[in-house]
Amino acid sequence: MSVDELDPQTGLFLEGEWVPATGGSQLTTVDPATTEPITPVAAAGEADVDRAVSAARSAFPEWRDLAPDERGRIVHRIGQTIRAHVDELAEIESRDQGKPLAQAHSDMTSAARYFEYYAGAADKLEGKSVPVGPEQIDYTVREPYGVSAQIIPWNFPGNLFARGVAPALVAGNSVVVKPAEQTPLSSLRLAELCAEAGVPDGVVNVVPGFGEPAGAALTGHPHVDTITFTGSVATGRAIMRRAAEHVTPVTLELGGKNPAIVYPDADIDEAADWISLAIFTNAGQVCSAADRVLVHESVHDDLVERIVRRAAAYEIGPGHEDLDMGPLVSEAQFETVRRYVELGREEGATVATGGSPIDRPGYFFEPTVFTDVDPEHRIAREEIFGPVLTVSRFADTREAVRVANDTDYGLVAGAFTSDVTRAHRLARELEAGTVYVNKWFGDTNQTPFGGYKQSGIGREKGLEALDSYLQTKNVAVNLSEDGGGDLPGA
Ligand code: NAI
Ligand code: MG
Repeated sequence: MSVDELDPQTGLFLEGEWVPATGGSQLTTVDPATTEPITPVAAAGEADVDRAVSAARSAFPEWRDLAPDERGRIVHRIGQTIRAHVDELAEIESRDQGKPLAQAHSDMTSAARYFEYYAGAADKLEGKSVPVGPEQIDYTVREPYGVSAQIIPWNFPGNLFARGVAPALVAGNSVVVKPAEQTPLSSLRLAELCAEAGVPDGVVNVVPGFGEPAGAALTGHPHVDTITFTGSVATGRAIMRRAAEHVTPVTLELGGKNPAIVYPDADIDEAADWISLAIFTNAGQVCSAADRVLVHESVHDDLVERIVRRAAAYEIGPGHEDLDMGPLVSEAQFETVRRYVELGREEGATVATGGSPIDRPGYFFEPTVFTDVDPEHRIAREEIFGPVLTVSRFADTREAVRVANDTDYGLVAGAFTSDVTRAHRLARELEAGTVYVNKWFGDTNQTPFGGYKQSGIGREKGLEALDSYLQTKNVAVNLSEDGGGDLPGA
């Protein structure tokens, strides 16, 4: 497909209009399958971010005060509008990000689903009444924060736009989205579809741009009321530090180094299927990927053999060819993966399959499996964010759980076993926000998702995500006929 056929929007989306960045600043988004530019896109600076936050602030009261059922209907229409454009959105995403078309299609169907799912909650955001005795009526209301800033990464750009924007809107917030500089196109198109569905001007604004200055300006802005970020731990920390200046709440989803524990009583062939899917989908650029296998020594060779056979059969090519795996998103990510694979060799791990870039244009890297990995190796401890699996052996459960939990991350973990008791014990003992049993990627739009430890703060998805977009107000009304006299905290 040519760029002309794609015809992507490339400006800032402010108050329902396309405008250039101040001074005409632009960035160029690239097709990672060819390394060729797709199109220049506006690159927001501080003044642009300021304009976007002002637009969102002005639009907020009216959106907040809209009848909840009407707000719900508009948000539901966003879902339907996305469904009507799902093929086009998938093509844009696949081209800009690199993932196979079927995966992009799934991301965008799920994006529609976020809007549909949260739409139904718009008129059910109830407070409660608190029984404090006959002299006072006391009740709570749940109110939106105001302007929600959303910083989106490049691995699931359109899907994560929806994951954050849908609950923010339903709760009555307005939003300013800063997509990643590598993948701005789906967010721009989604903003346009939000407007088409009836979202008032200024309620959804998009400022493409780099982490500095756009992301920094947005997350440090005094009139941003809450921040949602998905990305690296380092950037999450930087955002938290900046947010501290104005005591802005943050919801952070910061990736993981997720263990998959495989027991001899598991169906080894099925485990191999799940693990291959879980590490090679989106070329491993998934925060909840199965990064490190911990396998019982008695079934180690069997499992490795099956995963290697699958990996070696992977068909790899540009997103539009819709094969098993596409390129990495950018030269930087390609270099990161290449360096980690070199490091793995230096650390003494064995390359069981893959281990090299693919000799063609684009940021393609072979599905790679390392065996003989010591849990202390850096390749087993640091997030690689590429199609690179590490395999380590264990002898007993206590050791497996200790190694699984011996990390600063805690996003997801998985166990493969047919022993129900063991599965539930592991679910309790694993330090992660999500535990999968005999499957992977079991979280849906409806299930809360987020990290223990340094994998994050707060929860996305499910009804719990609404807590990031609502604050509680308590109202105390005097009913006493004898006048006042309560002391604070009484
Ligand atoms: P990053 O965390 O720096 O980028 C994510 C988003 O944050 C982008 O929109 C970027 O423009 C923005 N950003 C960057 N610096 C910022 C700042 N100072 N203030 C506000 N926003 C800022 O991630 P990067 O450098 O692209 O990738 C590095 C590593 O991060 C990856 O190798 C991977 O390990 C991890 N990562 C994790 C993701 C996840 O899903 N949890 C997604 C993307 C990256
Ligand atoms: Mg791109």
